[in-house]
Amino acid sequence: MSEAQDLTQLRNSSLAAVSAAANLAALEELRIQLLGKKGSITLALKTLKDIPAENRKSVGAELNQLKNSVEAAFASREKVLSLSQLGERLAREAIDVTLPVDSRPLTRGAGSLHPLTRVQQELELIFRGLGFTVVDGPEVETDYCNFEALNVPATHPARDMQDTFWTSGGDLLRTHTSSIQVRALQSMKPPLRIVAPGRVYRYERMDASHEHTFYQMEGMMIDKKVTVGHVIYFMRTLLREIFGFEAKIRLRPGYFPFVEPGFELDIWFKNRWLELLPCGLIHPRVLEFGGIDPNEWQGFAFGLGLSRLVMSRFKIDDIRHLQGGDLRFLTQFS
Ligand code: PHE
Repeated sequence: MSEAQDLTQLRNSSLAAVSAAANLAALEELRIQLLGKKGSITLALKTLKDIPAENRKSVGAELNQLKNSVEAAFASREKVLSLSQLGERLAREAIDVTLPVDSRPLTRGAGSLHPLTRVQQELELIFRGLGFTVVDGPEVETDYCNFEALNVPATHPARDMQDTFWTSGGDLLRTHTSSIQVRALQSMKPPLRIVAPGRVYRYERMDASHEHTFYQMEGMMIDKKVTVGHVIYFMRTLLREIFGFEAKIRLRPGYFPFVEPGFELDIWFKNRWLELLPCGLIHPRVLEFGGIDPNEWQGFAFGLGLSRLVMSRFKIDDIRHLQGGDLRFLTQFS
């Protein structure tokens, strides 16, 4: 075989092998076989010196040309392979952009307490400092605890103002936290001081200041001698703690079947009277319902509108925000 034939064969086999390399790793192996230190093209170049002088120049030129074209073949094959490997990788790691987005924003920090919870906890702390116990009661209540034992019999017109959601079994979603008064009277012995925060429900036509679900905090104190003076004292103390200043208050007569006398307590706020909480001395019949002798014991009760208080405290203009669960609203309080 002549040298020229050898070179042609080497050229053809090299170019064929390069274009057949299946991937970048195989191509690299081939590069070592052909162009590495002991590669066949490298070796062929090394044998140049053994070629008779008259042929050396032309063979050398041809060999160099061969090397150049093989190198060029390597470069273009490498480009093709890396592109197709990228294509494979893209296909493999493709993201399905048609999947629905998780639109929940990442909450800042570890979340935070709802403004209602914050104010409730604050109030609980204040009342604990005044000797009150925090108690709880069920949200699904009996007619007896929610109405009957609070001096609101089935035929009483006051029921109309507190319609609610009823279960088929005749129970109801409590319309006020006053139902907890009844349970406390049944289970605790006087003298006692309790506060009872919780969620309450009404059959309401909803608007910016009415929700079917809202929060109240009931308060009650029973002792040998309790007067309207006690109500005023505790409410003044409470307001001083909440607002940080001595609030101007007034009592107006207010009717609730479970207190006598009953009042609406207003607070002077931003140049006008603001209705803040209903209160009064516990009706003797309510004490009797609770098995407590009204000739021996007296008490006061109040019902604080927790949702209302939170709204005025944080300048929230729509009560529906409180239960709406909208993070744009909630994260403002984190
Ligand atoms: N339970 C009454 C209401 O929700 C409020 C109230 C509580 C009034 C205690 C007087 C005494 O409307």
